[in-house]
Amino acid sequence: MNDSFRAAAERSAAIEARIATDPGSLRMLTGDRPTGALHIGHYFGSIQNRLKLQSEGVEIIQLIADYQVITDREVGGDIRGNVHQLLLDYLASGLDPERATIFTHSAVPALNQLLLPFLSLVSVAELQRNPTVKEEAATAGITSINGLMLTYPVHQAADILFCKANVVPVGKDQLPHIEQTRVVARRFNERYGATFPEPGALLSEVTNLLGTDGTKMSKSKGNVIELRMSADETARKIKGAKTDSDRKITYDPDGRPEVANLLKLAAMCEDGDPATIADEIGDGGGGALKGRVTEAVNTYFAPLRARRTELAADASIVDEILVGGNQRANEIADTTLAEVREKMGMSYP
Ligand code: TRP
Repeated sequence: MNDSFRAAAERSAAIEARIATDPGSLRMLTGDRPTGALHIGHYFGSIQNRLKLQSEGVEIIQLIADYQVITDREVGGDIRGNVHQLLLDYLASGLDPERATIFTHSAVPALNQLLLPFLSLVSVAELQRNPTVKEEAATAGITSINGLMLTYPVHQAADILFCKANVVPVGKDQLPHIEQTRVVARRFNERYGATFPEPGALLSEVTNLLGTDGTKMSKSKGNVIELRMSADETARKIKGAKTDSDRKITYDPDGRPEVANLLKLAAMCEDGDPATIADEIGDGGGGALKGRVTEAVNTYFAPLRARRTELAADASIVDEILVGGNQRANEIADTTLAEVREKMGMSYP
């Protein structure tokens, strides 16, 4: 564990404590890329966490990072359609547009304009060192990093600072971007006077839930159960899941990772314990295990899916929420940009 990780972990714990004692003092910004519909890994990994924070009274600003889609791919795909699906997933999950601001960053010009002063505060060498950018480029299989991708950490700083968010729930992989955001805030404040809070990461617990083939979940591998799938589609996905030939079901994450993964999934949906579920299935084999998992997943997600179907029937609901969210994000961004210009001596009659 290096020093910067330890410091981030301590800040995260402090935020955790503050959520319990003073949730009203926190403004949280979270971001997702609109590259497809959400799956159960997203749900148990992060959505559930956001819902908990929402119910505890933390203000939530939910960003859909549409510009990020063009950082590591030449073809963005159906971004508009993906944004729509993502919104349906958020709403069906229980994100409440009365309390949460949901917006796309491309629709907020003043947010993007913050990039100009922010870019002047970071060095090219600093950007070239960012491990997350390098890793994302490697994952995407690209050898030449475009300018937007190189500067993306600064764009992410604008995403976070435009609304002066002080908490950002992320996985470990995003820590370099949060650190960059803190640096941008600090340097801006030093140069132009106190303006931005230095936000902290709220480190989320990883669920380490794997895909149905026992490898890391990834839409392109077809090993994910999407929130929007029907009960039948879910059953088919689980039926095709990898298990082993041992009929006696045991919970052994190291020795039998695929079986353990299915047990974990059932346990999450039933709010139970994987080892107990294994005992209950006993000698039933893979078939009984899959039956149990299918039942658990379909039961758990039935209300969410019913809400989603209802919402999807009227496209105007989702559109209206986005219009409202983008309007509010623009108001916040305009206020911040006006203050930034004032501080920089660039505010004119
Ligand atoms: N970079 C994040 C990801 O790839 C998404 C994101 C964009 C984000 N802007 C953000 C996350 C601001 C937190 C805060 O998942």
